[in-house]
Amino acid sequence: MMNSKLKLWENYQLSNINRMAPRSSYRTYFAKNDQQVRNYQSLNGTWKFKFIAAPEYAPKDFQNIDFDDTSWDNIPVPSNWQLQGYGKMHYSDLWYNFPINPPHVPSENPTGLYRRTFTVADVATDEQYIIGFDGVDSAFELYLNDERVGFSKGARLASEFDVTQYLHKGENTIAVRVVQWSDGTYLEDQDMWWLSGLFRDVKLYSRPQKGLYDLKIRTYLHDDYTKGELVVTPTFTLTDHQKITYQLAKDNQIVFEKTVDGNVSLDEQVNDVQLWSAETPTLYDLTLTVTNQGQVLEVVKQKVGFRQIEIVGKTFLVNGVAIKLKGVNMHDYSATKGRVMTKDDFLKNIRLMKNSNINAIRTSHYSKAPIFYDLCDELGMYVIDETDLECHGFELTGRYDWITDDPKWQPAYVDRMRRTLQRDKNHPSIIMWSLGNESSFGDNFRAMAAYCKAEDPTRLVHYEGDFDAEVTDVYSTMYTWLEHDSKLTMDQVIQKTQKPHILCEYAHSMGNGPGNLKEYQDLFYSHEQLQGGFIWEWFDQGITAEQNGQVYYRYGGDFGDEPNNSNFCIDGLIRPDGRPSTALTEVKKTFEPFQINVIDLPTLQIEMFNRLDFLTSKAFNFNYLLEEDGKEILHGPLNITEIAPHHSKKIKLALQLPQLDLNKLYVLHIQSSLAESTEWTTDADLGDSTIVIQRPKNNFNHQEKFPITANEDDLSIDIQVKQNQYRFDKISGKFSLTQHESPIITEGIQMNFWRAPIDNDMELLNDYYHKYFLNLWHENTVDVSLQKLGNGDYQVTMEKLVGTTNSGWYYQIQQDYLIHQDGSFDFKVNGIAAGKLDCAPEMLPRIGVVLQLPNDYQHVTYRGLGPTENYMDSCQASYLGVFDTTVDNLFVDYVKPQENGNHMSTDLIDLRANDDQIEIKTFNPLNFSVSNYTDRSLELAKHTVDLQKSDAVNLYIDFKQNGLGTNSCGQNQLKKYRCKFADFSFGFNFELN
Ligand code: GAL
Ligand code: MG
Repeated sequence: MMNSKLKLWENYQLSNINRMAPRSSYRTYFAKNDQQVRNYQSLNGTWKFKFIAAPEYAPKDFQNIDFDDTSWDNIPVPSNWQLQGYGKMHYSDLWYNFPINPPHVPSENPTGLYRRTFTVADVATDEQYIIGFDGVDSAFELYLNDERVGFSKGARLASEFDVTQYLHKGENTIAVRVVQWSDGTYLEDQDMWWLSGLFRDVKLYSRPQKGLYDLKIRTYLHDDYTKGELVVTPTFTLTDHQKITYQLAKDNQIVFEKTVDGNVSLDEQVNDVQLWSAETPTLYDLTLTVTNQGQVLEVVKQKVGFRQIEIVGKTFLVNGVAIKLKGVNMHDYSATKGRVMTKDDFLKNIRLMKNSNINAIRTSHYSKAPIFYDLCDELGMYVIDETDLECHGFELTGRYDWITDDPKWQPAYVDRMRRTLQRDKNHPSIIMWSLGNESSFGDNFRAMAAYCKAEDPTRLVHYEGDFDAEVTDVYSTMYTWLEHDSKLTMDQVIQKTQKPHILCEYAHSMGNGPGNLKEYQDLFYSHEQLQGGFIWEWFDQGITAEQNGQVYYRYGGDFGDEPNNSNFCIDGLIRPDGRPSTALTEVKKTFEPFQINVIDLPTLQIEMFNRLDFLTSKAFNFNYLLEEDGKEILHGPLNITEIAPHHSKKIKLALQLPQLDLNKLYVLHIQSSLAESTEWTTDADLGDSTIVIQRPKNNFNHQEKFPITANEDDLSIDIQVKQNQYRFDKISGKFSLTQHESPIITEGIQMNFWRAPIDNDMELLNDYYHKYFLNLWHENTVDVSLQKLGNGDYQVTMEKLVGTTNSGWYYQIQQDYLIHQDGSFDFKVNGIAAGKLDCAPEMLPRIGVVLQLPNDYQHVTYRGLGPTENYMDSCQASYLGVFDTTVDNLFVDYVKPQENGNHMSTDLIDLRANDDQIEIKTFNPLNFSVSNYTDRSLELAKHTVDLQKSDAVNLYIDFKQNGLGTNSCGQNQLKKYRCKFADFSFGFNFELN
């Protein structure tokens, strides 16, 4: 048989050489007041670097102290070498980009040789010196001062090595050989960029030989969750009558102090304990002073959060409450550095999540750097800690469980879970261990689950790939449909589940979307066993690039990477540059703490729901704000009675509204913010509910009269009123409007049933382009007639047949242009779905018209839903207002350009160019968007830098736009949000001032 000989980095049964047994990432100090961990030295910084095509090409002595590395390059650590100009950028979702022959990997195996020196002032004999790596992708050997220290793999797992015997006083030379491919790669097939190198912190520190090797912290709650029990189990590798003095304190107040022998656990009760939850992340300070014969060996400082997780019936409880996870999936990501993240990056992102009402993170699909968990403890985030394991590429071989069910691979599987669990076990934020992602199911997962259960019965086990929840505590599914004829739907989940259910992924946030956030959230709120989910995903994983001074973001295929999954990595709630997307605004609103239903508008009776799990409404300040035509005219505090979590109350708002002007829009905002500021509060408000107090009707009065003339011949109709020249081409059916000789509308008013495809339309595009030709519409003019009305106005009626290439279904269209003597005109259009109706597509992208206006009309005021773009299934965050903006500001620059910037329920659009103004008043509220780009330009552009500004302002007025759905992965447009091929009728008045 071929392949009998395994290289070091292919030996899947060898997890490591000399790696220390995994343990928690606690901090040990010489003395209580020390700020720096003992003998701590960061080994981050500039290293010498040599990039070679395979590990075998490394010079034999590259690790030696006297090796001459002066000709080598410099590289920053941490970094991914692909982002430093070495190797290849490649994005693929699930393909292994080489033949699948586990555990063998390509002989061409890009390798990084790293070297640097560092100085140690003194080497104490009673200390153990450790070099720790928080993450090295994918496998590596460590050398210190000419000697090989060890070998490790597990790209996103920590490795510690005991270097005591190699470390010198004075200068030391460390060298690391990192390979891109290893047998571990077969377990590291997550949907992301393939990136390699020393991408997390490298550090040196020590611990006393006789000090703690590890500690395990458990908390339990008793007496109706009022009493805490703290159990701390120390581990020593050298036992010698150590004693530990445990001091628990909160806000510098000592709760207890107790000295216990090192060979037993601490087990201590805490009365009136303050509990940890994501809403109330109360942490206690535990200080362990380890002594031996009266000598202080070390001081360990550790945060403790008291909380308890249980399963009761079909729910899991945190501190007795069946909480709802309002979560996101988070990769490690930086637009410029790949997967390198600093503490500040984590902090910034977790803060933004907290300010967006997100309370949970799934570490998809690998464990993170230790600091991440500290921040989650501190700021309050529930964490599903997923280990670094995915072998998705096997799915396409037809042998999905190839290694997952192979007992020879079991040690590798369990090792990954062990390392995650042991390192992270003391974080209160972690509520579930996740065995990995998308790796089928088999004995190796059973073994991992058994390991978790045995090691840590205080937390739940999660793995979505265990479809029947055989070994998991929660039933986890992803992208489960709300409606579908044959796929699993949420209804079936609700019926069948015997365990608490979560959606470990849903609401795929690729491009414009996701739709249906509200539908999912409503379901979560109305079924106890549905405990929420995790939106896919937090980051748009684009890579910064520049063209002609303009920044844009690259994705799969932009680096010549084949095969690739294109922009499937651009599916986050925040943009590559960290700006929140529309989707995040929607998420914030959908997850808001207080929801309002109006019971009786005139008396301002509402019902308010507290959607939190622990805090009552008393923890919040409420304010009201009354807007008149989009401008604040009144505001003040609101006194809201106490509403318990998970409860609602009927409330009469004690507000005195002013006299309303019938022609104006009045909208009342009710805003909620935390009464006490926290570590993370940056936004003023967490919630903003709006109540429309009065919506005015458009006033159509055409009393002013100017002379009007009409001329008709065989080919055209011309109507002249004020300085306006209306012209209708009787053959083409085209209409134009000219004012003072300058064109205002050219080629108008075109029917428009197409939109630049959004990523969530991806499954429809083949039919769109090749079956229904929805991008290719044709207008055939059937008849054009002129009529003078009794009041002296003129009406031009056009009858048309509008259909797509090769289609047997089409619209019979009637367009009426009613030219008033005041110079304005009404446009009314009526469409009848005709032809072979059963041959028509299930949905149309939109039904509307487009007008090309002069490009100096850049200033926009509209009365409608804003300020963020909105669509039928994604409009929670928008509210009615009068918004003053510009065409450029209305544009939403998706990394891959697509339909954007729609505003529903609009009945007034005002476009201005210097002193000129176009005012459009709709007969009924419609959708509108306005753009400096044509749909065609959006459709053709792969990146924002490809966009060509058009020489006109493109104004879209739609009767309907299709919903967004989230069908780039999951539910397509719900039936109720579809734009159907059906009859329609709409119109507006157009006036030039
Ligand atoms: C899921 C997978 C994620 C990601 C997502 C699509 O199936 O777990 O890693 O690939 O689909 O973006
Ligand atoms: Mg996958």
